[in-house]
Amino acid sequence: MPRANQPFVVAAPGHPGSVLLVAGSAALGGFLFGYDTAVINGTVDAVREEFGMSENGIGAVVASALLGCAVGAWFAGPLADRWGRIRVMLLAAVIFAVTSVASALAWGPVSLLAFRLLGGLAIGAASVIAPAYIAEISPAALRGRLGSLQQLAIVTGIFASLLVDYLLARAAGGAAEEVPWGGTAWRWMFASAALPAVVYGVLALRIPESPRYLVRRARLAEARQVLQRFVGGDVDQKIREIGQSLAGGAEDVRLRDLRGPRLGLLPIVWVGILLSVFQQFVGINVIFYYSSSLWHSVGFTESDSLLISTITSVTNIVTTLVAIALVDRIGRRPLLLVGAAGMVLTLGTMAYCFSTATGSGKNLVLEPSVGTVALIAANLYVFAFGLSWGPVVWVMLGEMFNNRIRATALAVAAAAQWLANWAITVSFPKLAGIGLQFAYGLYTAFAVLALIFVWRAVRETKGRELEDM
Ligand code: GLC
Repeated sequence: MPRANQPFVVAAPGHPGSVLLVAGSAALGGFLFGYDTAVINGTVDAVREEFGMSENGIGAVVASALLGCAVGAWFAGPLADRWGRIRVMLLAAVIFAVTSVASALAWGPVSLLAFRLLGGLAIGAASVIAPAYIAEISPAALRGRLGSLQQLAIVTGIFASLLVDYLLARAAGGAAEEVPWGGTAWRWMFASAALPAVVYGVLALRIPESPRYLVRRARLAEARQVLQRFVGGDVDQKIREIGQSLAGGAEDVRLRDLRGPRLGLLPIVWVGILLSVFQQFVGINVIFYYSSSLWHSVGFTESDSLLISTITSVTNIVTTLVAIALVDRIGRRPLLLVGAAGMVLTLGTMAYCFSTATGSGKNLVLEPSVGTVALIAANLYVFAFGLSWGPVVWVMLGEMFNNRIRATALAVAAAAQWLANWAITVSFPKLAGIGLQFAYGLYTAFAVLALIFVWRAVRETKGRELEDM
């Protein structure tokens, strides 16, 4: 069994590095997730202008993708149990590639909304498949690090889309203008997402099916091969354990199998849902979807604001790397606790800073020194999140459920996460209209609740076998 403090490229038994490659391919689903949810940033103003849309109309377009994600996540679990993890990845890749091009060719608000919604289905599905597949293919001692690849891919996707948006807008002289090779810049922004989707699809064709799914389908010879290659140890014993862990029926698990004695669902499913919801209710995506206009509204120039957003997304990538180094050593629970405490402090600081602002709406005025403090607090907040709740929630969702209910329970938790993301995203402009301090005050309160929740209800999963969950 590889030890947790070995670098993971050499730690996989069998073929060194191959488990990293396979996990990395699945994690590309996360890249699409980050890319798609953030690519909209650069297009918003140009789309509004070209289609003559209201604030609410454009808000609906932005939110439609998130709702599509919730639906896609919901259905991905049952489908993955029926068709296998790989087929769902392929389906997601195809839908995503097609809808990216279709969004680029949209002829009006309704068609754009429809294509974004359909594309969301694929993103939601990929957001469920990647953590489940990675957890199922990884040796226990490396599972945290490999699972964190999902978050690394998400944040790299966010960064890449911001960069592509920026470069296209620059080439055209504005998102609403023509690029030199023809076509409007914002249309190319949407179209650019087809490229990673094709890469994801091609890689999905080349990776093996999950051993836990294969055992479920009684394809034992294939399962043995995959386990030998990636997990090592006593493979036959492992297959027996997986078989036992599926006892109670390897047939398709449905939502009713998640029912529990109290509050309608099994307690562990509630833990997954709450981890997901808190991950969103601390307001992280407000930073990633709205930060440029936030910094602009408190007095930074437009181009400084864009630069700050890009720096923030780089901070997020770097901290994810730190989290990868820590997650299998110090464990999931300590990271969640420290991260929540850090978020309470930094979000509270931001709320305080914004409470001193004068002016309103898009023309807030902050004392320059207070503005700097808010900016530093925001980046430290992203640091605290990126070190903890960002990656750890995805790792835990992949590993905390037992083999029988994993795909379905993960789907429910991920759907809850997308709904929570949607709720925060659509409510932020209204809350900010009342006062930014209220928005950040609310996120601070949720960070406090998140801390208490982990303290009381979340158990460590580091190093345990999936069969023992
Ligand atoms: C997590 C969240 C995602 C967010 C990202 C930012 O992956 O699930 O919604 O955009 O972190 O780092």
